[in-house]
Amino acid sequence: MAAARFSETVTGDVRDGVLVVTIDNPPVNALSADVRDGLMAALDHAEASADIVGVAVTGAGRIFIGGADIREFGKPPVEPHLPDVLDRIENFPKPVIAAVNGAALGGGCEVALACHGRIPGEKASFGLPEVKLGIVPGAGGTQRLPRLVGIPAAIDMTGTGRSVKPEEAARLGLADKIAADPVAEAAQLARAVAGTPLRRTGALTVPVADVAIVEAATKKVLSKARGQASPGEAVRLVRAAAEMSLKGGLAEERATFIRLRDSREAAALRHVFFAERAAGKLDKLEGVAPREVKIVGIVGTGLMGAGIAVATLTAGYRVVGVEQTAEAAAAGRNRIAGMLDKAVESGRLSAASRDESLARLTVVADAAELTPADLVIEAVFDDLTVKTDLFRKLDGIVRADAILATNTSYLNPDEIAATTAHPERVVGLHFFSPANIMRLTEVVDCKATAPDVLATALAFAKKLGKLPIVCGVTEGFIGNRIYSAYRREAEFMVEDGAEPQEVDAALEAWGFPMGIFTVNDMAGLEIAWAKRKRQAAMRDPKERYVEIPDRLCEAGRFGRKSGRGWYDYSSGHRAVDPQVTALIETARAAKGIVPRRFSSEEIVARLLKAMADEGSALLAEGIAARASDIDLVMINGYGFPAYKGGPMFASASPS
Ligand code: 3HC
Repeated sequence: MAAARFSETVTGDVRDGVLVVTIDNPPVNALSADVRDGLMAALDHAEASADIVGVAVTGAGRIFIGGADIREFGKPPVEPHLPDVLDRIENFPKPVIAAVNGAALGGGCEVALACHGRIPGEKASFGLPEVKLGIVPGAGGTQRLPRLVGIPAAIDMTGTGRSVKPEEAARLGLADKIAADPVAEAAQLARAVAGTPLRRTGALTVPVADVAIVEAATKKVLSKARGQASPGEAVRLVRAAAEMSLKGGLAEERATFIRLRDSREAAALRHVFFAERAAGKLDKLEGVAPREVKIVGIVGTGLMGAGIAVATLTAGYRVVGVEQTAEAAAAGRNRIAGMLDKAVESGRLSAASRDESLARLTVVADAAELTPADLVIEAVFDDLTVKTDLFRKLDGIVRADAILATNTSYLNPDEIAATTAHPERVVGLHFFSPANIMRLTEVVDCKATAPDVLATALAFAKKLGKLPIVCGVTEGFIGNRIYSAYRREAEFMVEDGAEPQEVDAALEAWGFPMGIFTVNDMAGLEIAWAKRKRQAAMRDPKERYVEIPDRLCEAGRFGRKSGRGWYDYSSGHRAVDPQVTALIETARAAKGIVPRRFSSEEIVARLLKAMADEGSALLAEGIAARASDIDLVMINGYGFPAYKGGPMFASASPS
């Protein structure tokens, strides 16, 4: 038979008695109404054709099926519903085998689970990432997965949303065989099992699991959920699979899916999903091609530079690290190698990738080695003179088309660029520490940055697996400016009567992993203190200024490292310190402030408003391109809970 079309997005062709059904719904073969229709029509055809012995389902392009169509959420549901399609697949009289050519995610993984066999290609992956969207699987994932892989592994996968590669899938019992040509192998399997009793996932008994292991897996998921509802719900449903019939479990799952899909948490996480896809896209870069980058120079191989080097090496680039002395270069190389070793130990990197990365690294004490670099990133001490001297020097060393990037956190990159002969080649790449781990990168579009330089910086950061957010020049860029406003407001409330521990408790109960005063103690109080002292002369005396942090520093309380800050850590834990309470009371009294009580709600509302107001100012000044970029910065750099959508989202739709 010539290729048959079952719907706009689903076609099929018969190969030696097997109907190979291909879903072609770019960009990710999401299970839109048309795809579901097409699948049903293909099954009708396969059932009615005596010469078809089985079916293989695959996806066109590099993805198998990226899940339900997220854009359909919130719209009236259209038949056939996905659970009905999967019920039809599972109970189909002829074998239906999933030829998993690429990612099988969410509903896509559920399609594979309902099939009678799963053959992944080498680029395949299986995952139920619904919790990352604030929902649970809605088409049998929580019920069929444990029947194949057991309760503990299903808790892990559904509760964290993590994907597994073919080898792990095979080990878990999720994949039958890994194949270079999954379609051919799936067709082969369909032929082999045709006419025999089929292995229907829903009919399998959930393997008995050790209670202690189930409890441990549950605890692990819940401890990371921090107030987010969906991971706990996913775990509950998986555990229910051991006790309920398939029908009962599916009904419970569907009801939970619908309830969560309409929740605020899901709306917030959908916002984050689409925000990430929109980030880094700018009208002014439409049609601008990034320059090619192969060799990256990194000046300064301290903690930050080494982290940047690790991220750059593991993304496949050649790296030339530069230090001032041979000893410092040797230490830098060791630091980078140590970080790569750690990545191998923690399973984030294979030993082979580490060795390849090291083979692409040189660290020298001679800046002239930067001549062949396409991009040079400086990660030296954050001091204007140090940086401008370096950039002037680099300007004379690198090729005319090389890009110079500064990793400054607080300095004005326009001032750094202005000291070079070619300011149009200068851009900011503000990595967050540890740079090999943190996804957020603020890409600073300076006054003179050429569009293709900005496009190159964005493409480079993306290749590193980072989440690049474009930002204009302002003190502290997007993140630190909002953080300053957040911190200022928290200090105002403490001066007015809230205790630091009350502020932290309110934030932590709301979803932050750590309250702001605990974060400040972790980061250390002395840098901000030094900055305040530097800026003291320029301060507007009419502006409200809280002196409590200065008093803490004067008392030698620099935060966690010194054992004392806003809290006392001498016991190894964060503890409220009566000395701090007394110091705060004295500061209030000195200003004649009569302390008042603050509720947790008021604390959170005021802090959110402070962040959102500063965000609005950044938008008005043109520093941030869109509100959702601000949300991403605060979520990925400052612990803002993703399931609350970020400060702009949270304040635009208060609960
Ligand atoms: N529905 C609708 N659109 C989707 C989508 C989905 N499930 N997944 C991705 N897209 C869109 C993106 O918004 C983007 O659109 P844009 O080009 O207009 O910005 C485009 O597809 C490409 O996406 P990416 O940039 O993310 O492409 P990548 O190649 O980097 O990644 C992917 C592909 C791994 C599939 C990634 O897109 C992804 O993780 N998607 C979400 C997967 C997911 O969460 N699925 C579960 C959905 S919920 C579900 O299935 C419920 C079920 O249980 C009933």
